[in-house]
Amino acid sequence: QRRVAIFLSGGGSNMVSLLDDMARPGHAGAPCVVVSNRADAGGLVRAAERGVATEVVDHRPFGKDRAAFEAALTTTLAPHAPDLICLAGFMRILTGAFIDGWQGRMLNIHPSLLPKYRGLNTHARAIEAGDGVHGCTVHEVTAELDEGPILGQAQVPVIDGDTPDTLAARVLVQEHRLYPAVLRRFAAGERAPLMLTS
Ligand code: GAR
Repeated sequence: QRRVAIFLSGGGSNMVSLLDDMARPGHAGAPCVVVSNRADAGGLVRAAERGVATEVVDHRPFGKDRAAFEAALTTTLAPHAPDLICLAGFMRILTGAFIDGWQGRMLNIHPSLLPKYRGLNTHARAIEAGDGVHGCTVHEVTAELDEGPILGQAQVPVIDGDTPDTLAARVLVQEHRLYPAVLRRFAAGERAPLMLTS
């Protein structure tokens, strides 16, 4: 089985969906560690409840020194020997220095239909643009932010009267469908994109 590390910064609902699916039969991946850059991330508790090792690498002591933060991540990961990394609401930008060592072995979920709306505030931007369809994307991580080969997307309708919060909630439901489905395929060596409609 491929050993899967999950990086997060928050509540970890996507992490839970990945762990739940890896616990089901026939999965080529198994979780080895959950890493957070914030000690107060709710996802750490949810991982521990599920018997998964957790680590915290606080970015703040490193200030602007991203290289030192990433070196600490690498040191922390080493004993867990991951084969793959899944970013699941990890809200720190990683540089090429870290990413290059994980090329083709690191996935991210992003709450928009990439290439639209890289970066933050994706739901507000989709509403502002008058989009009728929004969604989420799982992609391989490359050195450019929210770039990299698309491994799957799920579409979500934008409804009259949507606020960023109501739209985010509808997208999150699809994130929880898409990410486990993509990881299951990816861990088994499948790279063809998975396109879901709701
Ligand atoms: C998710 O919506 C994820 O797509 C987004 O953060 C949320 C994390 O929720 N990720 C990004 O914005 C990455 N730039 P979760 O902690 O409940 O999984």
